[in-house]
Amino acid sequence: MRNVTLKTVKEVAGIRAASQLAADTLCKVGEMLRAGITTEDINRFVHEDTVRRGAIPAPLNYHGFPKSVCTSVNDVVCHGIPGPYVLKNGDIINVDVTTIFEGFFGDTSATFFIGDVSDEARHVTEVSRKSLDLAIGVVKEGARLGDIGAAIQEYAEGQGCSVVRQFVGHGIGRTFHEEPQVPHYGKRGTGLRLKAGMVFTIEPMINLGTYGVRVLADKWTAVTEDGKLSAQFEHTIVVTKTGCEVLTKRPRPLVGSEVFAG
Ligand code: MF3
Ligand code: CO
Ligand code: CO
Repeated sequence: MRNVTLKTVKEVAGIRAASQLAADTLCKVGEMLRAGITTEDINRFVHEDTVRRGAIPAPLNYHGFPKSVCTSVNDVVCHGIPGPYVLKNGDIINVDVTTIFEGFFGDTSATFFIGDVSDEARHVTEVSRKSLDLAIGVVKEGARLGDIGAAIQEYAEGQGCSVVRQFVGHGIGRTFHEEPQVPHYGKRGTGLRLKAGMVFTIEPMINLGTYGVRVLADKWTAVTEDGKLSAQFEHTIVVTKTGCEVLTKRPRPLVGSEVFAG
């Protein structure tokens, strides 16, 4: 944790600008989602919406990732690769948008419903969204990383879900992934003490079954070991003395297939 930097006001402004572009693109994705489109259609939209504003889609070529956005359907936990898959009624899909603008990164995602989804799908999605809200609620200078993990884990497990261990939130700024790592599980009163100016993501991956994950032969797609559903929401935040600012706050409520305002 020695490499956790405190961002200057100027740097935060840069990350905020990138984050707001990512949030706007994600809102527009919500408006285009429907049964019958492919995940490649989402990729093409995100790519074009990003570059037309002079920004860069961070996933493209990141450690060899082949597309401009991650699209994770049903039992895919994260890092799903867009392609020919046709969205169908009842699917849930996480779309994870990361935008680079003037050298700064902003990272945000949401899980959306395609048409009418099962009660189980609604449950795991709602638990993921609410666990992110609860985690954001405990962030302020002097709080600890373990407080964030505990807030998510206690709530999600209390709702009969599990918290993925294998992927964590992360510091972000002029690079995509930097210190600190932000686990979505843990114990209150432990871990790094937060300071105003730290910028990181919180992005709980919540499973309906067990937390085990495996990565497919494409080296990216992470799926639940038990084949059950997984959902995720992500925001980029900056710690302040009294709380935090959500840099990827939606410019307008998410609409389309997703029922939640968060
Ligand atoms: N956006 C993801 C995150 O929240 C990272 C995606 S890496 C990629 O950290 F290469 F798959 F795009
Ligand atoms: Co992230
Ligand atoms: Co992300």
